[in-house]
Amino acid sequence: MVEHVIQITNLTKEYGKLKAVDNVSLNIGRGEIFGLLGPNGAGKTTTINILVGLSLPTSGTAKIAGLDVTKHPIGIRKRLGIAAQDAYFDHHLSIKDNLFYHGLLYGLPRKELKKRVDAALQWSKLEKYRDKNFHHLSGGMQRRLVVARAMLSDPEILLLDEPTTGLDPQTRRQVWGYIKNLKEVGKTVLLTTHYMEEADILCDRIAIIDHGRIIARGTPNELKKMLDKNITIEITVNPEVMNNHIEKDLNAMSGVIYVEMKSNRIRIGVDDDAIVEQVLRNLITKTKISEINIIRPTLDDVFLHLTGREIR
Ligand SMILES: Nc1ncnc2c1ncn2[C@@H]1O[C@H](COP(=O)(O)OP(=O)(O)O)[C@@H](O)[C@H]1O
Ligand SMILES: [Mg+2]
Repeated sequence: MVEHVIQITNLTKEYGKLKAVDNVSLNIGRGEIFGLLGPNGAGKTTTINILVGLSLPTSGTAKIAGLDVTKHPIGIRKRLGIAAQDAYFDHHLSIKDNLFYHGLLYGLPRKELKKRVDAALQWSKLEKYRDKNFHHLSGGMQRRLVVARAMLSDPEILLLDEPTTGLDPQTRRQVWGYIKNLKEVGKTVLLTTHYMEEADILCDRIAIIDHGRIIARGTPNELKKMLDKNITIEITVNPEVMNNHIEKDLNAMSGVIYVEMKSNRIRIGVDDDAIVEQVLRNLITKTKISEINIIRPTLDDVFLHLTGREIR
C-alpha cells in the first residue's frame, strides 16, 4: 500500500469572493516528486502556505505525515523543508551565517548545525562562497541555496514553490539535477511550477491547477495520452507534387484525422504511431521528401486542450 505523506482533502481557501483554492484533493506518496502545475494566480502558493501553516483553510483538511496542519504546526514543521517563492535571506550576512541562523531557528544544536551547514554548502556546490554575502550569488546559486537551506533540518518532505522561476535555461537544468538528487536520497517533494517542461521532466505525477481547481492529474505520460489522437507529421516536399491526389489519398487512409497542404508543406494529423509509418511509406512512393518533423503532444498542449488557453 502506498503511504501518503501529504493528504489534502476537499481543501478550499476563499479571499472574499475569490476561491484561491477550490475543493482540491491530493495524495502524495513517500518518495514521490509531485508537481502542482499551473499558471500565475492558479492557487499554488496558497496551497503551499496552507501546508506550511501560514494560511488557514476556509474548509477541508491538509495532513502531513498524518498530522492535521492546523492542529500540529510544530510537529509538521519538523518534517517539512520549505523553499518559498520569495525566500528571504539576510543580505548583510554571509551565506554560511544565513544557513547557520536558519538552523538555530529550527532548534538544531550548534555542533550538529556546523556539520549540516558544511554539508549543505557542499551539496549545493557553494563552499567557495561560504563567506560571501547573499547578493554576490547569481540567480542559480541563490535558488540552490534556497533548496539547500530547506534541506538543512533534514526534513522528510520538501515543498519547493517555483524553484526555477526566472532562471535561464542552463541554470534551470542545473537546479533540476539538484531536485532529482532529493528523490535519490529518499525525500518526498511537492513542487509547484508554471513550466510544463519542468513538470514533465521532474515529476512522477502531476496535478494541473487552474483558477484554484485541479483540472487534470496523472503521470506526464497519462496526461499526454489524453491527447493521443493528435500526432502531427510535418513534411516538406517538392512543390510540383502538391496536388489533390496526394491530399485525397492521405485522407482516405484510416487513422488520418486531417490533412493540410500549403506551398511545399504537408501537415497530417494521425491518431497513432503505427499510422505515422504508413503515411511516410505512402508518401515516399509519390514524392521526394526533404524534411520530416513528427510532433508529439506536450503538456502545453494538454493545458491548451483543457482550458483553451496557453499557460502564460
Ligand atoms: N492574501 C491574499 N489576499 C487576497 N487574495 C490573494 C491572497 N493571496 C493570494 N491571493 C489570490 O489568490 C489567487 C491564487 O494566488 P496564488 O496562490 O499566489 O497563485 P500562484 O502561486 O499559483 O501564482 C490569486 O488570484 C491571488 O491574487
Ligand atoms: Mg505562487
